[in-house]
Amino acid sequence: MDKKFRVLVTGGCGFIGSHIAEKMADAGYDVVIFDDLSSGTMENITHLSGRVKFFRGDVRNKKELRGALSGAGVVFHEAAFVSVPESEKDPSRCFDINLGGTISLLEEAERAGVEKVIFASSCAVYGNNEDLPLTENAGVSPGSPYAVSKSVAEQLMKEYCVRRPISITALRYFNVYGPRQNPESKYAAVVSKFIQDGGKKRKLSVEGDGSQTRDFIFVGDVAEANMRAAQASLKGFHAINVCSGKEASVMDLAKNMSLLIGNVSIEQAPPRANDIARSWGSGEKALDLLGFSPKTSLIEGLKITVESYLERKLR
Ligand SMILES: NC(=O)c1ccc[n+]([C@@H]2O[C@H](COP(=O)([O-])OP(=O)(O)OC[C@H]3O[C@@H](n4cnc5c(N)ncnc54)[C@H](O)[C@@H]3O)[C@@H](O)[C@H]2O)c1
Repeated sequence: MDKKFRVLVTGGCGFIGSHIAEKMADAGYDVVIFDDLSSGTMENITHLSGRVKFFRGDVRNKKELRGALSGAGVVFHEAAFVSVPESEKDPSRCFDINLGGTISLLEEAERAGVEKVIFASSCAVYGNNEDLPLTENAGVSPGSPYAVSKSVAEQLMKEYCVRRPISITALRYFNVYGPRQNPESKYAAVVSKFIQDGGKKRKLSVEGDGSQTRDFIFVGDVAEANMRAAQASLKGFHAINVCSGKEASVMDLAKNMSLLIGNVSIEQAPPRANDIARSWGSGEKALDLLGFSPKTSLIEGLKITVESYLERKLR
């Protein structure tokens, strides 16, 4: 990708989007952020002040998108309805934002002459699939409106590329954690929930016996995968896992967090209904096509995350 191109980050005031914006600004790209601030905050990008442009708008609104897309060569599409449990309660809003918003973005991106869109997809598209480690060829079996929206958005994008001069890479993120993940949310991901509870000296609550495993990937590595996807010369549509390639149990995660935070104990809560027993991904395709492999170990990443949470709290 030529550095004279502008890059647009939808959802750039959110957790992952703000790290992508920072990474691209650090690499010398002209960065524009587009966000409606529904779950993201300006605080997440205050450290980028003067280095990125900000447009407040909704991805479903083509007119608002048009202004922000002017001159953009690459779009990172992170803006989304992100909560799985909320998507069960309000599927129409989830589809409106994740499908309606994505279609509006594609149409306006094409009109603006954008060459490539990097889409924030999810390992949720695989559902409860025991074909481990999950490769991109594993069958999709989305188990929630949120997961359906990501899977259908991928299919739309694949079809969209066929007769158009636009390339799209869908990055299927596994469980992303790191600084700026919102621990206040009722649906906070497990790492930020543990930090929030541990920081307040509450017990870390592990559902069931904690033997369930997930693939945790540090947000800095996710930003690196995005930059590589933008710079790669891939044409057409590709779906690529962004994962650590390792499984970690929720109990091990809780034990590590308890050591890092200090002085917090672990309690067992009732198991979650239909919880997936084991899940982790294969990062081979990301290595082949993007030369990407994550650099941050779980312990290193957790340490950075805990430190950043404690620093922010002291401000
Ligand atoms: N966090 C994870 O572990 C994970 C895993 C898989 C996929 N993803 C995907 O990665 C992307 C980023 O997730 P995140 O964890 O950073 O969430 P986040 O909530 O921190 O970020 C989403 C951002 O999108 C903005 N947004 C929401 N709706 C919008 C709209 N209609 N118009 C404009 N902006 C809007 C929000 O204000 C927020 O800044 C999402 O697409 C999510 O589905 C995240």
